[in-house]
Amino acid sequence: MSAAKIDIAVFISGRGSNMEALIEACSAPDFPARIAVVFSNDPDAPGLEKARAAGLQTAAINHKNYDSRETFEDAIIETLAPFDPQLICLAGFMRLLTPHFINHYENRILNIHPSLLPDYKGLHTHERVLADGKDQSGCTVHYATAKMDEGEIITSRAVPVLADDTPATLAARILQQEHIAYPQALKIAAEKILHNS
Ligand code: GRF
Repeated sequence: MSAAKIDIAVFISGRGSNMEALIEACSAPDFPARIAVVFSNDPDAPGLEKARAAGLQTAAINHKNYDSRETFEDAIIETLAPFDPQLICLAGFMRLLTPHFINHYENRILNIHPSLLPDYKGLHTHERVLADGKDQSGCTVHYATAKMDEGEIITSRAVPVLADDTPATLAARILQQEHIAYPQALKIAAEKILHNS
Protein backbone atom coordinates (compact mmCIF):
# COMPACT_ATOMS: atom_id res chain seq x y z
CA MET A 1 0.00 0.00 0.00
CA SER A 2 1.39 3.44 -0.83
CA ALA A 3 1.74 6.10 1.86
CA ALA A 4 -0.59 9.09 2.32
CA LYS A 5 0.38 12.07 0.18
CA ILE A 6 -0.64 15.71 0.04
CA ASP A 7 -1.14 17.47 -3.29
CA ILE A 8 1.24 20.32 -3.99
CA ALA A 9 1.76 22.98 -6.67
CA VAL A 10 5.26 23.95 -7.79
CA PHE A 11 5.82 27.51 -9.06
CA ILE A 12 8.69 28.19 -11.47
CA SER A 13 9.90 30.99 -13.71
CA GLY A 14 12.91 29.43 -15.45
CA ARG A 15 14.86 26.23 -15.94
CA GLY A 16 13.27 24.42 -13.01
CA SER A 17 16.15 22.38 -11.59
CA ASN A 18 14.67 22.60 -8.08
CA MET A 19 11.36 21.48 -9.55
CA GLU A 20 13.16 18.47 -11.05
CA ALA A 21 14.55 17.62 -7.60
CA LEU A 22 11.01 17.77 -6.22
CA ILE A 23 9.68 15.61 -9.07
CA GLU A 24 12.35 13.01 -8.31
CA ALA A 25 11.56 13.06 -4.59
CA CYS A 26 7.80 12.83 -5.16
CA SER A 27 8.30 9.79 -7.39
CA ALA A 28 9.20 7.69 -4.34
CA PRO A 29 6.14 5.73 -3.17
CA ASP A 30 6.72 6.64 0.48
CA PHE A 31 7.30 10.39 -0.10
CA PRO A 32 4.44 12.35 1.54
CA ALA A 33 3.65 14.66 -1.41
CA ARG A 34 2.65 14.50 -5.05
CA ILE A 35 2.82 17.31 -7.60
CA ALA A 36 -0.70 18.18 -8.79
CA VAL A 37 0.38 21.03 -11.05
CA VAL A 38 3.44 23.03 -12.09
CA PHE A 39 2.65 26.71 -12.56
CA SER A 40 4.67 29.44 -14.25
CA ASN A 41 4.27 33.16 -14.83
CA ASP A 42 6.28 32.64 -18.04
CA PRO A 43 4.61 30.45 -20.69
CA ASP A 44 8.08 29.91 -22.22
CA ALA A 45 9.82 28.83 -19.01
CA PRO A 46 12.02 25.83 -19.98
CA GLY A 47 10.96 24.04 -16.80
CA LEU A 48 7.37 23.70 -18.08
CA GLU A 49 8.50 21.39 -20.87
CA LYS A 50 10.47 19.31 -18.36
CA ALA A 51 7.35 19.05 -16.18
CA ARG A 52 5.21 17.93 -19.13
CA ALA A 53 7.87 15.39 -20.11
CA ALA A 54 7.57 13.99 -16.58
CA GLY A 55 3.83 13.56 -17.17
CA LEU A 56 2.76 16.47 -14.95
CA GLN A 57 -0.04 18.94 -15.47
CA THR A 58 1.15 22.48 -16.16
CA ALA A 59 -0.44 25.92 -16.20
CA ALA A 60 1.02 29.26 -17.24
CA ILE A 61 -0.31 32.78 -16.86
CA ASN A 62 1.77 35.63 -18.22
CA HIS A 63 1.91 38.33 -15.57
CA LYS A 64 2.50 40.90 -18.31
CA ASN A 65 -1.15 40.53 -19.35
CA TYR A 66 -2.36 41.94 -16.01
CA ASP A 67 -2.36 45.53 -14.91
CA SER A 68 -1.83 44.81 -11.22
CA ARG A 69 -0.20 42.15 -9.07
CA GLU A 70 -3.56 41.46 -7.39
CA THR A 71 -5.46 40.73 -10.63
CA PHE A 72 -2.60 38.45 -11.70
CA GLU A 73 -2.79 36.71 -8.33
CA ASP A 74 -6.57 36.31 -8.63
CA ALA A 75 -5.98 34.53 -11.93
CA ILE A 76 -3.47 32.19 -10.27
CA ILE A 77 -5.85 31.44 -7.39
CA GLU A 78 -8.61 30.58 -9.89
CA THR A 79 -6.26 28.37 -11.91
CA LEU A 80 -5.02 26.50 -8.85
CA ALA A 81 -8.46 25.97 -7.29
CA PRO A 82 -9.33 22.71 -9.12
CA PHE A 83 -5.99 21.24 -8.02
CA ASP A 84 -6.66 22.15 -4.38
CA PRO A 85 -2.97 22.20 -3.38
CA GLN A 86 -2.22 21.85 0.30
CA LEU A 87 1.24 23.35 -0.20
CA ILE A 88 2.81 25.60 -2.82
CA CYS A 89 6.54 25.28 -3.43
CA LEU A 90 8.11 28.40 -4.91
CA ALA A 91 11.07 27.02 -6.84
CA GLY A 92 12.83 29.82 -8.67
CA PHE A 93 9.55 31.75 -8.99
CA MET A 94 10.68 35.27 -9.77
CA ARG A 95 7.48 37.26 -9.17
CA LEU A 96 6.94 38.94 -5.86
CA LEU A 97 3.69 37.72 -4.29
CA THR A 98 1.60 40.23 -2.34
CA PRO A 99 -0.26 39.63 0.94
CA HIS A 100 -3.36 39.14 -1.23
CA PHE A 101 -1.97 35.80 -2.45
CA ILE A 102 0.14 34.90 0.59
CA ASN A 103 -2.83 35.27 2.96
CA HIS A 104 -5.03 33.15 0.69
CA TYR A 105 -2.57 30.27 1.18
CA GLU A 106 -1.52 31.26 4.68
CA ASN A 107 1.25 29.03 6.09
CA ARG A 108 1.02 26.86 2.99
CA ILE A 109 3.74 28.41 0.81
CA LEU A 110 7.38 27.32 0.87
CA ASN A 111 10.24 29.22 -0.72
CA ILE A 112 13.88 28.40 -1.42
CA HIS A 113 16.45 31.14 -1.27
CA PRO A 114 20.14 30.83 -2.21
CA SER A 115 21.64 32.25 0.98
CA LEU A 116 21.80 31.39 4.66
CA LEU A 117 18.80 33.39 5.79
CA PRO A 118 18.28 35.74 7.53
CA ASP A 119 21.44 36.99 5.77
CA TYR A 120 21.35 38.19 2.18
CA LYS A 121 17.64 38.43 1.45
CA GLY A 122 16.66 39.59 -2.02
CA LEU A 123 18.50 39.46 -5.32
CA HIS A 124 22.22 39.20 -6.22
CA THR A 125 23.01 37.19 -3.10
CA HIS A 126 26.21 35.61 -4.44
CA GLU A 127 27.67 38.93 -5.60
CA ARG A 128 27.01 40.42 -2.17
CA VAL A 129 28.41 37.41 -0.28
CA LEU A 130 31.62 37.60 -2.35
CA ALA A 131 31.89 41.39 -1.98
CA ASP A 132 31.66 40.98 1.80
CA GLY A 133 34.43 38.35 1.82
CA LYS A 134 32.27 35.74 3.60
CA ASP A 135 33.74 32.26 4.00
CA GLN A 136 30.43 30.45 3.83
CA SER A 137 27.05 30.72 2.17
CA GLY A 138 24.27 28.26 1.41
CA CYS A 139 20.55 27.90 0.88
CA THR A 140 17.44 28.07 3.01
CA VAL A 141 13.91 26.69 2.67
CA HIS A 142 11.32 28.62 4.66
CA TYR A 143 7.62 29.36 4.89
CA ALA A 144 6.81 32.41 2.77
CA THR A 145 5.27 35.44 4.42
CA ALA A 146 4.26 38.80 3.04
CA LYS A 147 7.82 39.99 3.64
CA MET A 148 10.33 38.77 1.07
CA ASP A 149 12.63 35.91 2.20
CA GLU A 150 11.26 35.93 5.75
CA GLY A 151 9.17 33.37 7.60
CA GLU A 152 9.89 30.27 9.64
CA ILE A 153 12.97 28.41 8.44
CA ILE A 154 12.49 24.70 7.78
CA THR A 155 16.02 23.76 6.77
CA SER A 156 19.25 25.27 5.52
CA ARG A 157 22.49 23.86 4.11
CA ALA A 158 25.85 25.60 4.14
CA VAL A 159 28.70 25.49 1.60
CA PRO A 160 32.20 26.99 1.80
CA VAL A 161 33.02 30.08 -0.25
CA LEU A 162 36.33 29.43 -2.03
CA ALA A 163 39.01 32.04 -2.71
CA ASP A 164 38.60 31.88 -6.49
CA ASP A 165 34.79 31.78 -6.50
CA THR A 166 32.76 33.81 -8.96
CA PRO A 167 29.03 34.37 -8.51
CA ALA A 168 28.50 31.56 -11.03
CA THR A 169 30.72 28.98 -9.30
CA LEU A 170 29.24 29.80 -5.89
CA ALA A 171 25.70 29.62 -7.31
CA ALA A 172 26.43 26.19 -8.79
CA ARG A 173 27.81 24.85 -5.49
CA ILE A 174 24.78 26.15 -3.62
CA LEU A 175 22.35 24.80 -6.24
CA GLN A 176 23.57 21.26 -5.54
CA GLN A 177 22.60 21.76 -1.91
CA GLU A 178 19.24 23.31 -2.89
CA HIS A 179 18.37 20.06 -4.65
CA ILE A 180 18.89 18.22 -1.35
CA ALA A 181 17.35 20.85 0.92
CA TYR A 182 14.06 21.37 -0.91
CA PRO A 183 12.89 17.74 -0.89
CA GLN A 184 13.92 17.47 2.78
CA ALA A 185 11.95 20.59 3.70
CA LEU A 186 8.93 19.54 1.65
CA LYS A 187 8.93 16.17 3.43
CA ILE A 188 8.93 17.90 6.82
CA ALA A 189 6.15 20.34 5.86
CA ALA A 190 4.01 17.66 4.20
CA GLU A 191 4.30 15.27 7.15
CA LYS A 192 3.24 18.09 9.47
CA ILE A 193 0.06 18.56 7.41
CA LEU A 194 -0.63 14.81 7.30
CA HIS A 195 -0.15 14.45 11.05
CA ASN A 196 -2.52 17.36 11.73
CA SER A 197 -5.26 16.14 9.40
C1 GRF B 1 17.63 28.89 -7.42
O1 GRF B 1 18.96 29.22 -7.10
C2 GRF B 1 16.70 29.44 -6.39
O2 GRF B 1 17.19 29.39 -5.10
C3 GRF B 1 16.57 30.87 -6.85
O3 GRF B 1 16.49 30.79 -8.24
C4 GRF B 1 17.18 29.62 -8.68
C5 GRF B 1 16.21 28.80 -9.48
O4 GRF B 1 16.83 27.72 -10.12
N1 GRF B 1 15.45 31.53 -6.21
P1 GRF B 1 15.96 26.57 -10.79
O5 GRF B 1 14.94 27.23 -11.73
O6 GRF B 1 15.29 25.80 -9.70
O7 GRF B 1 16.95 25.74 -11.56
